[in-house]
Amino acid sequence: MKKLRTQVGIVGAGPAGLMLSHLLHLEGIESIVIEAQGRSHVEGRVRAGVLEQGTVDLMRRTGLGDRLDRESLLHNGVYLSFEGNRHHLDFRELTGKGITVYAQHEVIKDLVRARLDAGGQILFDTTELAISGVESSPLIRFHRDGEEYEVRCDFIGGCDGFHGVCRPSIPEGVLRVFERTYPFAWLGILAEAAPSSEELIYTYTDRGFALFSMRSPTVTRLYLQCSPNEDIRNWPDDRIWKELFLAGDAAHIVPPTGAKGMNLAIADVTVLSRAISDFYRSSREDLLAAYSSTCLRRLWKVQRFSWWMTAMLHRWDSQNEFDHRRQLAELDYLTSSRAAMTSLAENYVGLPLE
Ligand code: PHB
Repeated sequence: MKKLRTQVGIVGAGPAGLMLSHLLHLEGIESIVIEAQGRSHVEGRVRAGVLEQGTVDLMRRTGLGDRLDRESLLHNGVYLSFEGNRHHLDFRELTGKGITVYAQHEVIKDLVRARLDAGGQILFDTTELAISGVESSPLIRFHRDGEEYEVRCDFIGGCDGFHGVCRPSIPEGVLRVFERTYPFAWLGILAEAAPSSEELIYTYTDRGFALFSMRSPTVTRLYLQCSPNEDIRNWPDDRIWKELFLAGDAAHIVPPTGAKGMNLAIADVTVLSRAISDFYRSSREDLLAAYSSTCLRRLWKVQRFSWWMTAMLHRWDSQNEFDHRRQLAELDYLTSSRAAMTSLAENYVGLPLE
């Protein structure tokens, strides 16, 4: 068995795990990242693509800004589209901030490169991962290349996503789950087609929500509301193209509503890396103890915003005509009141970290 020792063992090489490792390294703290998938898989996995200003600032400040500055697209706002009309929300004018379009897997590539260049360890392609001793002496075990591994550490960073092994490893009584299951899902489409709008379009249509987004001047990214058990075989390419042209002028598509997943991950590990480095520097545990409550305060506001966007822009099976008129009134109010627009804008560009 291979026995390794590090200060922080990080499970998962997504944005949270890799950024945590990167930030800890800049504080002089050693970590090992352990990932089930291979490098090419995590670097190619198509996910979200909108960065809040705070995420961009952090990347630049920590030496990850070069390719981002060359290849990303800066947007000053988004469009909301309903009942055949398109309304522009000018985030720059409302909040002084914009948003940056840069795919999550590009952020991952930049982080992997930065970690490897700095001599960091990322162990890809692992199986049978298990963690133990979370309350006493943390230990991560796994298999790789036919060999058994054991990593002893002071802390485990559980960054392996909603379905990973870390979440269920939190001791009974410590983990509380607050859940809202939405009765729909989103069909994500990546198309080799030049974006037909210079900014994102969130659309509410008779058949539900659609989002028009992009990845580059030649690649369009779209999301369509669908059923949670939608069969992808019902969506051959020609149906997708037909839908897109139908959505056309009046609509174009709407999205998985908040654009917040990756930004939340980055916000969490910013707070966590500060708490861990405070612990090593001064043996203080108060920031670590406050980690959850610090993040949860902001997280619930982001949760509220994502829920509100989702509720406003989707068709619900249970919805009656009253609900439909109320949604349209909400959109009408939103696009005609500066106060309402400012509220959307300040949430979309990102609430302050503390
Ligand atoms: C994306 O470009 O992937 C994207 C944009 C906005 C969202 C969600 C996803 O709200």
